[in-house]
Amino acid sequence: MKTEVQLYNNVFEPYISAEKIDTEIAKVAGQINSDYAGESILFIGVLNGSFMFCADLLKKITLDCQISFVKLSSYEGVASTGVVNELVGLSEDVKGKHVILLEDIVDSGNTIEKLTEMFLEKECNSLKVATLLYKPLAYKKDIPIDYIGIEIPNDFVVGYGLDYDGLGRNLNGIYKLKED
Ligand code: IMP
Ligand code: MG
Repeated sequence: MKTEVQLYNNVFEPYISAEKIDTEIAKVAGQINSDYAGESILFIGVLNGSFMFCADLLKKITLDCQISFVKLSSYEGVASTGVVNELVGLSEDVKGKHVILLEDIVDSGNTIEKLTEMFLEKECNSLKVATLLYKPLAYKKDIPIDYIGIEIPNDFVVGYGLDYDGLGRNLNGIYKLKED
């Protein structure tokens, strides 16, 4: 990993390596492969942040599966605005399907709550949530997060799909904001 990354005026330091990310995604994929044995899954990636997680997770899924995407946004800079905007809605028919939502990170849970409401009214057969990163200290909802890659404290992180105002998504490891 790079020893430091600068995005705009902020410096980020190495936090989670690409190898660690790969190992944890393999564990999540293994759990899904065993929990859904004999079934097919419709994965729904939450754009933009989850694109790398979606790609790497799906390469490790051995079941019949499909993927589609929705696009939501709640963050501006390093803080959640609390209001979740739907930028690209769901085009897929999810009725009767086993749906797994794929998130880069679950923070306050506002996004997951909004998505859960959207999907439950569409009568999917089952609905679960998988996230690469989870901030348990920030999570304020009761919705269970079924598959978790890595739990982290309330640090602001970038890389591996996650951004700081649009930058940093291309980094192959995860970096956290350096305290000064
Ligand atoms: P929530 O709705 O508060 O749970 O936030 C979820 C969304 O906020 C995630 O899908 C990310 O896009 C964004 N987010 C939350 N924490 C971070 C972070 O530390 N870095 C970058 N984006 C984040
Ligand atoms: Mg996201």
